[in-house]
Amino acid sequence: METKQLGKTGVSISAIGLGSMPMSLSTRPKESQSIDVIHRALDLGITFIDTADSYCKDESDKHHGEQLIHKALQSYKGNVSHVIVATKGGLMRPNGNWTRNGNPQHLRETIRTSFKVLGGNKPIDLWQYHAPDPNYNLKESLIPAKEAVEAGMIRFVGVSNFSVEQIKQARDVVDIVSVQNQYNPWYREPEFDGVLEYCEHESLTFLPWSPFGGSRRHHGLEDFPTIAKLAQEKGVSVYSIVLAWLRSKSPSILPIPGASKISSIEDTVQAVNVKLSDDEVQRIDRET
Ligand SMILES: NC(=O)c1ccc[n+]([C@@H]2O[C@H](COP(=O)([O-])OP(=O)(O)OC[C@H]3O[C@@H](n4cnc5c(N)ncnc54)[C@H](OP(=O)(O)O)[C@@H]3O)[C@@H](O)[C@H]2O)c1
Repeated sequence: METKQLGKTGVSISAIGLGSMPMSLSTRPKESQSIDVIHRALDLGITFIDTADSYCKDESDKHHGEQLIHKALQSYKGNVSHVIVATKGGLMRPNGNWTRNGNPQHLRETIRTSFKVLGGNKPIDLWQYHAPDPNYNLKESLIPAKEAVEAGMIRFVGVSNFSVEQIKQARDVVDIVSVQNQYNPWYREPEFDGVLEYCEHESLTFLPWSPFGGSRRHHGLEDFPTIAKLAQEKGVSVYSIVLAWLRSKSPSILPIPGASKISSIEDTVQAVNVKLSDDEVQRIDRET
């Protein structure tokens, strides 16, 4: 599997990661299936897995995603010492809804729990502040991450759902290595709001979330005529075309497609070998 550097850290990660959200929400499959998906992803060379404290059904099930990944890594027969688990904090799941919580005390507690759930014997590889909470200033909300780095609980810090201005503010508090914002054929904001350009200029890894539009919308990819036509011509899936299109946009991009089936991850990794010409990228651009 092709690799990329995480930010400027010197740490190599697979050029395509695994998004674990579909394995933790209320529509999740049986745990044994999820563990098989993670094991298959590792077999195929994936070394970057994204999760969050809030990937769960509701508050009573908090940290489900981290528990699942930890269990899968522990039961994997191969070497997992180079696998980077990226988690997040800052969202809550009351009654299964999504709300923001940038309260520094809450963030300190959730970082401590994530650290323990992920094994407690080494720092969290990458902890991301999930989304800015307008009830707190960014500095207040990012200080817990800085403290946790200093305490050896977090190795690297990233941000998610941030504008360029917010990323700059965050970098005044703590070193940031990655940015995770939505980017897919229906939502191309990062190309226009300056975030992608900024990440490339500053060598921050850009992790596009919901690269296929999310678990409810991904079947609609077939409805983009150019994506469907290129998939047919190249003998690959529409998912591979979308990942190739995203990856063509910037060397900073490292997609984290979600999967809860082995067939999805097996198909998805094939995208590393799919290259689009400038003309093909522009044809997709005109349609999306
Ligand atoms: N930071 C944030 O605010 C935020 C928000 C949303 C998501 N995320 C992260 O981004 C990751 C990706 O987003 P996402 O999971 O919402 O959506 P997504 O990656 O756009 O789509 C995931 C869906 O696509 C299907 N799929 C994936 N590859 C496929 C293939 N090759 N063939 C057929 N179906 C395929 C999967 O189906 P199966 O489930 O049937 O395998 C899954 O349900 C998440 O898992 C999460 O880690 C972050």
